[in-house]
Amino acid sequence: MPLGAAPPAGGDGRAPVGSADRSTVRVGLGTRAGNRNPCRLGGRVRYCPDVEGYRPRVPPERVERLWRWHEEASEELHALGAHEVEYLGLQLHVPAQVFPPTPTSDLLGRAVLARTRPKQRVLDMGCGAGANAILAAQHTDDVLGVDVNPTAVSAARANAERNGVAERTWFAESDVFDAVDGEFDLIVFDPPFRWFQPRDLLERAFADENYATLTRFMREVSDRLRPGGEALVFFGTSGDVAYLDELIEATGLPSSTIAERSLDVRGETATYFVRCLTG
Ligand SMILES: C[S@@+](CC[C@H](N)C(=O)[O-])C[C@H]1O[C@@H](n2cnc3c(N)ncnc32)[C@H](O)[C@@H]1O
Repeated sequence: MPLGAAPPAGGDGRAPVGSADRSTVRVGLGTRAGNRNPCRLGGRVRYCPDVEGYRPRVPPERVERLWRWHEEASEELHALGAHEVEYLGLQLHVPAQVFPPTPTSDLLGRAVLARTRPKQRVLDMGCGAGANAILAAQHTDDVLGVDVNPTAVSAARANAERNGVAERTWFAESDVFDAVDGEFDLIVFDPPFRWFQPRDLLERAFADENYATLTRFMREVSDRLRPGGEALVFFGTSGDVAYLDELIEATGLPSSTIAERSLDVRGETATYFVRCLTG
């Protein structure tokens, strides 16, 4: 399926399998008494515990809107199943439980192509089917891709082989930096955009409960950048951008927006962008 024809609107579509019972889905862990703030979900007031400092920076109406977005996107992504994608000149096989490139992924992909230099060490955090790792490997021979989803890791390895960069890439299962050694010249991350609890591995690509993964990444990224290195983080207005920017500010690293695109998605204008942090 050529990129652009893919239904997952807006670079962060995703979620589950029709049979999921909405009433069982939590926003937040819901376990810490005395630390809860109300938010509306699915027409009902739910409680979002302030875990690890995260509580939505968006108003309750927006939380509800993002929940509906999440449900629609999830249904579409699950309906895709395993498929082939042509993306920025790559031929990728995307298994059913793996997140595919979307119509806005190229914002990050083109930035990877533009900023990777020969001999650089590159990390593709949350590599999915391997697109960004494979693009980076067109310019350097030392690229590591990691993902918490073992099916994504296998798919990325197979896609690297298929696209002729197997000898320049390595892939491993890792929860954020857990299985990652050393420092990098370029770190690339297209994280899950929303903070809801994922119901399966595919949803884990676009739902990061209480932003635990995003928070950990931002707390550790400055220690993983070589001097002068760059971290490219893709995000969009279907996530909590104010929270992302608080995390970026807390790194103490200079940052700027190096790519941005707005498009109509699900009845609103959504903006997707790449923030670049410099080590
Ligand atoms: C939005 S998808 C992006 C996939 C791919 N990089 C791309 O651009 O097509 C986010 C990816 O992050 C992975 N991920 C989510 N939480 C993670 C974690 N804690 N550690 C590592 N990877 C994670 C997901 O499995 C998913 O493959």
